[in-house]
Amino acid sequence: MTDKNSTHDMVKKAYGEVAKKNTSCGCGPSSGASCCSTDKSYIIEDHIIPESEMGLSCGNPLAFSMIKKGDTVIDLGSGGGKDVFMTAEIVGSEGRSIGIDMTHEMLELANKNALKFTEKTGLKNVEFREGYIEKLPVDDNFADAVISNCVINLATDKQAVFNEIYRSLKNGGNMIVSDIVLEKPLSEEMKNSESLYSACVSGALLRDQYLKCIENAGFKNIKILSDKKYGVTQVGNDPITGEVKDELKDCASSITITAQKFIFTCGCYGKC
Ligand SMILES: C[S@@+](CC[C@H](N)C(=O)[O-])C[C@H]1O[C@@H](n2cnc3c(N)ncnc32)[C@H](O)[C@@H]1O
Repeated sequence: MTDKNSTHDMVKKAYGEVAKKNTSCGCGPSSGASCCSTDKSYIIEDHIIPESEMGLSCGNPLAFSMIKKGDTVIDLGSGGGKDVFMTAEIVGSEGRSIGIDMTHEMLELANKNALKFTEKTGLKNVEFREGYIEKLPVDDNFADAVISNCVINLATDKQAVFNEIYRSLKNGGNMIVSDIVLEKPLSEEMKNSESLYSACVSGALLRDQYLKCIENAGFKNIKILSDKKYGVTQVGNDPITGEVKDELKDCASSITITAQKFIFTCGCYGKC
């Protein structure tokens, strides 16, 4: 899994198939992908656009009331657009909610959902952009907040993703991301499994490495907002993932973490 292009292609294929099926949860045995967990509390039953709730999340970055009316918010790996639509309702007509995804079929689905969203709410503050989260298609100092739900573990270069989040945030802006981290190193067999990668497990970093990447990017005020053991129910019908299912027990957690871009413009480094 060292070649970045082939990893992107593998993940695009897996999530492209999930988007095409557009079922309530992409973790059926034939889907070959999805970050589904045994914890169904991440599923938003009464979502304004039910088609955007695809059961692909591992947390709820919007549950901590850190997004305000009028904010510009970016969602990394927006999938069917679930969090983008919830954000759009919070920021209102003076704010903007922008989803970024690399999978063409997901963007197609999200754009269809956006039409329904505008019809239902009258809001036209939603946009989906095609791009990689390792190289965000947004200007410097653009967003008040960056969110993401179960995506960064799939990225080929996690440090690049956190550097990009930092670059795209305004000074004082917040990152709020839900993601999978590992609690122990995986066996070689698990590390090399394509199904486990698309299932958001084998691409995940160890918890300490993940926190270090955030710190290295320059973030301050790093806080874990929620922390749960992650139980993978379905990891495709690959014979390898089937065999390692027991080994997966207790090896990963789903965390929601916040951090702030904070640059001292007066040169006091926080002492004044
Ligand atoms: C597990 S799904 C999560 C979707 C959404 N955040 C949710 O909670 O419903 C992962 C999404 O991230 C996208 N993705 C994965 N790696 C990406 C990358 N490197 N750059 C951009 N999008 C990526 C996939 O296409 C897919 O739509």
